[in-house]
Amino acid sequence: MYTANTGSRASVRKVTVPEIRARKSSGPKIAMVTAYDYTMACLVEASGVDMILVGDSLGMVVQGLTNTIPVTLDEICYHGRAVMRGVGRAHVVGDMPFMSYQASPIQAVESAGKMMKEGCFESVKLEGGEVFAEHVHRIVRAGIPVVGHVGLTPQSVHALGGFKVQGRGDDAAEQVVRDARALEAAGAFCIVLEAIPPDVAERVTRELTVPTIGIGAGAGCDGQVLVCTDLLGLSRGPTPKFAKRCAELGDAAIGAFKQYVNEVRAGAFPDAEHSYKPNHGEVEDEKLAASGEGCVVVPFMR
Ligand code: KIV
Repeated sequence: MYTANTGSRASVRKVTVPEIRARKSSGPKIAMVTAYDYTMACLVEASGVDMILVGDSLGMVVQGLTNTIPVTLDEICYHGRAVMRGVGRAHVVGDMPFMSYQASPIQAVESAGKMMKEGCFESVKLEGGEVFAEHVHRIVRAGIPVVGHVGLTPQSVHALGGFKVQGRGDDAAEQVVRDARALEAAGAFCIVLEAIPPDVAERVTRELTVPTIGIGAGAGCDGQVLVCTDLLGLSRGPTPKFAKRCAELGDAAIGAFKQYVNEVRAGAFPDAEHSYKPNHGEVEDEKLAASGEGCVVVPFMR
């Protein structure tokens, strides 16, 4: 297990970049999920997932923004450190936020370097195709693995006129293929395909030698990624068509909060089980402390 910025590890075998590349030909398909904090990272890691993405979707999921544009490099690094403390095996990718790389290849290398050093990431992801091939190339040359991201690129929400399916029509489909090819040539080790028709994703997947990871891109990709809160049914309000809810933990959480509120109001909580023993005097208190009863939590667990 990593501790932030120290690089210390327990003996868990990491999923490596070469292994992810190799899954293109040898399978099984790659499973990727987002996480933004320690608790979620522990849960996702326990599932045996291959890759965890600290996505800039945290702007919407964690911060309640309407898009990902305001997310900063420092925020991504903060969440990266928290996630990394909960992960042993999965490969952890950090999303490069809007305007942390677009200005120039040099800016891209500097930002990616900061993410590796301060966010403890093992690779970075950036949105955009042909136009950013040189940026990807320079980051890869610095020894930092890069995940590409084409199709719907949410940081361009205003330019695209909304969160819309991309790659429809021959010209648009060709552009998606060209973008993916350019990223592969620049050295990206896998490429996220977001919100494109399944036949276009299948073509990209067939033509590339690196794995594709789909989100709203059909079943023909080499892997899939979902936002953790969508997958768990924690997201409230409308979610995209592709956001499969594998559980309804949001409803379960509301039920639990309601139970707590009712018990507090009725004076039923805390009961004896959740209260400390009454004060019996100094000697007995010392005995209780020695037995661990006096500790609020088990000390030095982490
Ligand atoms: O930010 C994010 O979570 C993403 C995934 C949806 C691919 O980019």
